[in-house]
Amino acid sequence: MEKARIIEIPRIVDERGNLSVVEEDGLVPFKIKRSYWIYDVPGGEHRGGHAYKENCEFIIALSGSFDIVIDDGNERNVFSLNRSYYGLYVPHGLWREMENFSTNSLALILSSTDYDVNDYIRNYNEYLAYKKNEE
Ligand code: TYD
Repeated sequence: MEKARIIEIPRIVDERGNLSVVEEDGLVPFKIKRSYWIYDVPGGEHRGGHAYKENCEFIIALSGSFDIVIDDGNERNVFSLNRSYYGLYVPHGLWREMENFSTNSLALILSSTDYDVNDYIRNYNEYLAYKKNEE
């Protein structure tokens, strides 16, 4: 099974302000179909808390910081994002939660599929059963 991993996004450093770009050139390991962003998160809130059967994601902290908890049914890993030139690649089939959002944080999520409510697994026990079935 593929693991979640941090991918460094190239930076075009400039004294007028830095610039980073993501395009379909192989940096992001899937074809980008959709993008959405999470913002104005009140202190202490969690987002996510689900897995996707098909959808893959690339998550960037465009501003501020937050943690992404990745759980494959056996182990949990926490990835902290706090720079706009690192992204977390999350392959499909992993449980993921987002937490510890800083004030004014902005999370950009690039996704490989259209939004599909049927692609979600929202219950952790269901996720464990799904994983067992996959093995
Ligand atoms: P959801 O992915 O369920 O976020 P969370 O797990 O953090 O609660 O999305 C929240 C709501 O936004 C849900 O009602 C569906 C809607 N939504 C869309 O309509 N399109 C999208 O691409 C996404 C990601 C969410």
